[in-house]
Amino acid sequence: MVQESVPAMEVSGLTVKFPIRGGVLGKVQNYFTAVEDVSFTLEPGKILSIVGESGCGKSTLVKSLVGLVPMDSGEFKLFGKRVVNGRIQDKDSKGKCTRVSDLVQMIFQDPFSSLNPRQTIAEILTAPLLSRGVNVQEAEARAKELLERVSLPKEALQKFPHEFSGGQRQRLCIARSLMVKPKILLCDEVTSALDVSVQAQILHLLDDLRNEFGLSIVFISHDMQVVRALSDDVLVMYFGHVVERGAADEVLVNPRHEYTQKLLASVPTIRRVQ
Ligand SMILES: Nc1ncnc2c1ncn2[C@@H]1O[C@H](COP(=O)(O)OP(=O)(O)OP(=O)(O)O)[C@@H](O)[C@H]1O
Ligand SMILES: [Mg+2]
Repeated sequence: MVQESVPAMEVSGLTVKFPIRGGVLGKVQNYFTAVEDVSFTLEPGKILSIVGESGCGKSTLVKSLVGLVPMDSGEFKLFGKRVVNGRIQDKDSKGKCTRVSDLVQMIFQDPFSSLNPRQTIAEILTAPLLSRGVNVQEAEARAKELLERVSLPKEALQKFPHEFSGGQRQRLCIARSLMVKPKILLCDEVTSALDVSVQAQILHLLDDLRNEFGLSIVFISHDMQVVRALSDDVLVMYFGHVVERGAADEVLVNPRHEYTQKLLASVPTIRRVQ
């Protein structure tokens, strides 16, 4: 069903509003618009970075794509097929609509809270496949394969999340996201909770996996140097709106919008103190 010529993801006019409750009964009194009329295209096999200051709606935008927060309005297509209520409106050979989660997986900022502390790594990794009716042997075989791919030993399967370092946990989160063989990864500040020395390893791993599995990636980051090094395209958000988008080489080198210019100018540089 995946055609390489069509965009991996097309989003148009996406708006997300959160209710503001008040009064003794906590009734909805108003709405706060966190994302308003956002449109973008993720080209197959490419990395699209979303940048913008804290609170501008980056996480809300990607969460709404995987159903973690409800969309208020907008249209969303995966590989040219419309998505309605978390399903692609095109039946497969068994007459079922493909779920968004079969094609799109999200990796979060905090690898500490992303993994259930009571489950073994085997349980965590195999759960997405077991819930899709795959048998245990097959699910475990894939888990071992992916552990190896993210440079963790297969003995990790019997362990619990607390037995791993931050970088190793993020590798586990990456392995889990790949269990269902997705075509798109949404990476929300996946390295910001990690030690600087580990950040580069995780970024290299993601880039290698993109090439190996033909993944398309939406990458959220505050680190403009990383964004510059990794991205094909960039989307700049400001107070829930897109203010600029385009090829990374253009947006990050010759920003047209005043806000993007300020954002780039705010990147700290290290100077020797005289
Ligand atoms: N569940 C929620 N209920 C109400 N408001 C929310 C909710 N989630 C986010 N918001 C608000 O929506 C706005 C956008 O938040 P969001 O987390 O998307 O920002 P962000 O760009 O990801 O910021 P950061 O870079 O700090 O992660 C913020 O003002 C936030 O307070
Ligand atoms: Mg965020």
